[in-house]
Amino acid sequence: MTGLQRDPRGEVGETGAVIQEPTDAAISRAAELLRAGGLVAFPTETVYGLGADAASPAAVRRLYEIKGRPADHPVIVHLGDAALMPEWATEVPESAARLAEACWPGPLTLVLRRRSHVSDAITGGLDTVALRVPDQPVARALLLAFGGGVAAPSANRFGRVSPTTAADVVADLGAALSADVDVVLDGGPCRVGVESTIVDCARLDQPHARPAILRVGGVSREQVEELLGHTVDVRTGGETRAPGTLDFHYAPNARVVLVADEHLASRAAAEIAAGQRVGVLASKPPDFLDDAVVVVGTPADADEYARTLYRNLRDADEHGLDVVLAVVPADVGIGAAVADRLRRAARRDARR
Ligand code: TXA
Ligand code: MG
Repeated sequence: MTGLQRDPRGEVGETGAVIQEPTDAAISRAAELLRAGGLVAFPTETVYGLGADAASPAAVRRLYEIKGRPADHPVIVHLGDAALMPEWATEVPESAARLAEACWPGPLTLVLRRRSHVSDAITGGLDTVALRVPDQPVARALLLAFGGGVAAPSANRFGRVSPTTAADVVADLGAALSADVDVVLDGGPCRVGVESTIVDCARLDQPHARPAILRVGGVSREQVEELLGHTVDVRTGGETRAPGTLDFHYAPNARVVLVADEHLASRAAAEIAAGQRVGVLASKPPDFLDDAVVVVGTPADADEYARTLYRNLRDADEHGLDVVLAVVPADVGIGAAVADRLRRAARRDARR
């Protein structure tokens, strides 16, 4: 990336955005900016978020504009402490309380019935609100300094791969951020690397109703089931207006093709023969791959796969690759979240 200034004094880079070291002073200034209706991109343990005061519809509207996100897509409200939940939700069912107690701060988002003051700009007009207490020191310091709820989608342009470093945020949004009112706090690379798991705990008062997973992410389905003591439905099919459920979400510019281990070498050869620049993302790429193949990533396990996934997909684009052949990890634990993102990326490409 050229022209990007990383300046702890808060000087403006050529792109117009300010990347700042998360000093105490920078965090209090960022909280002030939020209070004044500005936008603050901040690290979380999952991905970077672009935050606005959730109580300010004007600030949230600007957030949507900058992201290029349709207004009817609801956004997560980030809190510094679980004790603030009742300010946003009318009721916290026992299951939600149990998940919050066990997983917060952490990569879990709870969908609950909203209080009437919660703006339609946040909920996309739904009668629910999504809440999360992130587990990242800069995020928590910012949220506690601000005191209220911070509406924050992932800090990428709508439909793009989520950012896991401050530089990724600026690469996606820099030109749209304004030097006067916006800041990007740099907390280094994200520890989890894929978004939070969303569990819908609204409407549990209806007969036979159970919590359901709307997006698999940093907390595994197995963990959720163990904490609740029963199985949960995974409803990621898209009946809610969740951008994470759209086919083209999470996709880089390069085509993503899911390949079984044993077909990697032959598929790579076929793509190369067709004139494609080929990358491979697999725990153990075979050593008999064509020299022309770029090894995009060799994650040792599912955690590393998740942590490096979006970085690797961005690298594939930076290398100008046409296609990424990905061997999907096993559908358990955080591997399920990686598999979900890769399948969505690949589904988009099946239609191109
Ligand atoms: O890890 C994360 O969750 C990151 C970090 C920044 O916290 N945030 C994130 O936000 O992924 P975003 O906006 O990219 O995705 C939020 C998801 C969307 O799929 C949205 O539809 C869903 O949460 N969501 C928000 N409010 C909802 C609600 N009331 N009911 C159902 N889904 C909701
Ligand atoms: Mg997103």
